[in-house]
Amino acid sequence: HKGIAIAIDGPAAAGKSTVARKIADKLNYIYIDTGAMYRALTLKALNNDIDPNNEDELYQLLLDTTIKLTQAEQTQRVLLDDTDVTEAIRNEEVTNNVSTVAKHRLIREEMVERQRQFVQENNIVMDGRDIGTHVIPDADVKVFLIASVEERAQRRYIENKQKGFNPDLEKLKQEIAERDRFDTEREVSPLVKAEDAVELDTTSLSIDEVVEEILKIVERKG
Ligand code: C5P
Repeated sequence: HKGIAIAIDGPAAAGKSTVARKIADKLNYIYIDTGAMYRALTLKALNNDIDPNNEDELYQLLLDTTIKLTQAEQTQRVLLDDTDVTEAIRNEEVTNNVSTVAKHRLIREEMVERQRQFVQENNIVMDGRDIGTHVIPDADVKVFLIASVEERAQRRYIENKQKGFNPDLEKLKQEIAERDRFDTEREVSPLVKAEDAVELDTTSLSIDEVVEEILKIVERKG
């Protein structure tokens, strides 16, 4: 890659996207949320009654799908075939099916190819599960964010409350743990820390503290 690439991986709800977006803002880099790409395909599959286990049908669907990530005024929008699905891809049904969609080899290969195109052209911060291990193995900085399941569920709980929902903390905890298990145990590029990634436990850190830590790592590399 020509530009600078920062890879941020870790389990569900570890704060990756919030942190990645802030770092991208500070450094004036492009932020790429790869989870949003898998979520967008999942939403389209559900809307078209395609079984998340049916790899071939999902793959045909993906080849016929455009997913754009745009940035305007500090917010990222996700466009699925030019329809704004930024909020829709966060719903519970998508969240509970996305890991099944993302386990398939054909789907991952096509997504990774699309992700690498961003890397070619820009200075980027990219977050996901396999960025440091697979999408950008030669990333300039690799970070692996972790936090206890309790803490992650608690953060989601607060987030959902603020959005006006009525979340169930125990259920959130279970869903997060289940998604992690699925992502860690899948055959194709499972969730794992890259050997050369810096692990940061964010359980008792604020978002800004995590951002500061990562910016220090970036400075040291520069
Ligand atoms: O990051 P987010 O929670 O939005 O990701 C949703 C799901 O997409 C993950 O649980 C995982 O199954 C899948 N994913 C992936 N590889 C990535 C990013 C996300 O498999 N690079």
